[in-house]
Amino acid sequence: MPKSRIMFVCSNCGASYSKWLGQCSGCGEWETLIAQAPTPEVKNTLTIASKTGTLLTVENIYAKASRQNTEAPRLATGFNDLDLVLGGGLLPGSVTLLAGQPGIGKSTLLLQIANIIAKSVPVLYVSGEESAPQVRTRAHRLAAKKRQQLGDSDIHLDFASSNSTNDISQTIISGKYKFVIVDSVQTLTVAEIASAPGSVSQVANSGNILIRASKAADTALILVGHVTKDGTLAGPKTLEHMVDVVLNFEGDRYGGFKTIRASKNRFGATSELAIFEMGNFGLQEVENPSAALLAERQNVDGSVIFAAIDGARPLLVEIQALVNPTNFGYPKRTSSGFDVNRLSLLIAVLEQRTRLTFADKDVFLNVVGGIRIADAAADLAVCMAIASATANRKLADDLVVFGEIGLGGEIRSVHAADRRIMEAKKLGFSAAIAPRTIKSSFVKPTRDLTAVLNTYLH
Ligand code: TYD
Ligand code: MG
Repeated sequence: MPKSRIMFVCSNCGASYSKWLGQCSGCGEWETLIAQAPTPEVKNTLTIASKTGTLLTVENIYAKASRQNTEAPRLATGFNDLDLVLGGGLLPGSVTLLAGQPGIGKSTLLLQIANIIAKSVPVLYVSGEESAPQVRTRAHRLAAKKRQQLGDSDIHLDFASSNSTNDISQTIISGKYKFVIVDSVQTLTVAEIASAPGSVSQVANSGNILIRASKAADTALILVGHVTKDGTLAGPKTLEHMVDVVLNFEGDRYGGFKTIRASKNRFGATSELAIFEMGNFGLQEVENPSAALLAERQNVDGSVIFAAIDGARPLLVEIQALVNPTNFGYPKRTSSGFDVNRLSLLIAVLEQRTRLTFADKDVFLNVVGGIRIADAAADLAVCMAIASATANRKLADDLVVFGEIGLGGEIRSVHAADRRIMEAKKLGFSAAIAPRTIKSSFVKPTRDLTAVLNTYLH
């Protein structure tokens, strides 16, 4: 095959083909092949001094670690919950990928973090997307509240506007900075590769070079990655395998809460969650998300408070349903913040196990506050919201709901019931409609779906 031919590269696994295929035979994903101009072999542009032959036994590692009093101190980001998500702050030498949709607030968050960490160690902020004046404008906006200006003598924050992976990696290797931010990985180019920035080979190679540089210099590195509309990282999946931590920044771009959770963390749990709100002076952590989510509640038909566990964190959220007669054709099922397939399944269960019918009704479901729920315990709350909206009957103000629903209409037990109950008590609720297996005086008795709907909806 002549060398100049266009190749098709899978954006999921990186396998390459000489012709386009609908399905990648490497990883089995559909429509992931992207046409790419041929790339010359990349020379190893890094000269990392390697010490060959120094092998350690595991005992040695333990002994060394205990002598050095375990690991190096982590860098605190200034956001307590974000530190928890990271597993106790940023570990020196670790590489974190911050993935999120354009406009969610990645650059804002990172500038805030940079500003805080720069008070203790030298920090470099590299932007390939914004020029220095643009970043300065944002920095002034963030600093305005405290009437402080960036660039105070006690802040060691340097800024560079660059797209060159080669330059950035050399700067990291120089060891001058303990924390480097690169915004974003889709703008980077390795000089030796001909393809456009954002292409699979540019992103993968840039990621690889920067990761090696940061490990060599023991510098904490955060890479920003844009995600596509369906929530996957634009560029190769392989990048997620290469980095130590993958943080997902999700939520509503326009108001509402935004959440950060780790989908991968080599140095901590992936169950923690940080909740943010965008204000006029940047992002702020929401101290008591349950109270904030319930602040504007009016108890009407179709509104139910669900005691959720998001990661490791209890959270009370309002689930709202609206049920309308179908005007034309096929009945609609629309959902925001909840899996629409699960919604269809629950509607089917309601139709089969209770006397409600939905064949001629549109069902709309909404989770308030831009929160996305992936907790099986939401089933009962969703069913009650739909039933309440259909029958025009309300649930009492002081009740929370949680429980999984089986296809037989039975209410099944869920994890972390005690934490859900504790959060509900803390916010002044007086009882929970929950699986009857839970031993607590706070839980109202439940038998099956029909009985629950008949007993508690008035
Ligand atoms: P940005 O951080 O640039 O998003 P990303 O880097 O993920 O693409 O900006 C997020 C949005 O937040 C942007 O539309 C402007 C807005 N914003 C505020 O509302 N308040 C602020 O203090 C700042 C700095 C930005
Ligand atoms: Mg940005």
